[in-house]
Amino acid sequence: MRPQSKLRVLIDREEISKTVARLAFEINRDYRGKEPLLIGLLKGSFVFMADLIRQLDLPMEIDFVAVSSYGSAKETSGKVKMVQGLRTRIRGRDVLVVEDIVDTGLSMSFLLAYLGKKKPASLKLCALTHKPSRCQIPVSIDYLGLTVPDEFIVGYGLDFNERFRHLPDICVLEREK
Ligand code: IMP
Ligand code: MG
Repeated sequence: MRPQSKLRVLIDREEISKTVARLAFEINRDYRGKEPLLIGLLKGSFVFMADLIRQLDLPMEIDFVAVSSYGSAKETSGKVKMVQGLRTRIRGRDVLVVEDIVDTGLSMSFLLAYLGKKKPASLKLCALTHKPSRCQIPVSIDYLGLTVPDEFIVGYGLDFNERFRHLPDICVLEREK
């Protein structure tokens, strides 16, 4: 028999919504008078990005980049590469990177170094979730939603093998025999 997967809600939609509202409040406050460029990491950040920007009361632009560190497994390969680069010039811009989860920190430290070389006026990070127990490269998160335990989570944009991104709550994926 195929192993079944079981979902357990870890962060429900109300808590997600409150967290997004708090992050938006902080970003609105800190970027007042500026016109930031928000850069989301595909694919996981797309749901969070969509909810976040609709609560921002600022002129802004958005773009997306894609890096890959995970194949189709739950463990990182340790190697990060750019899969889809930027289309927007970021020199002199106030850049805010938007990410669903910082896990080992490998993808984010790679991306921040890549963006930093392009000389933005400022470069900050907003991450909905952070799994500090798995940190390999410390990354400073300027706007952090929630800290999560060392469990594999899906939903609200996060996937396992491209599945479960559509779930409105963030759930732990538990494998059953
Ligand atoms: P890092 O490079 O290890 O920090 O991994 C970052 C990427 O791995 C995230 O952008 C996610 O796409 C993926 N990832 C890490 N942990 C999880 C998880 O618990 N669920 C789903 N995707 C994850
Ligand atoms: Mg991601």
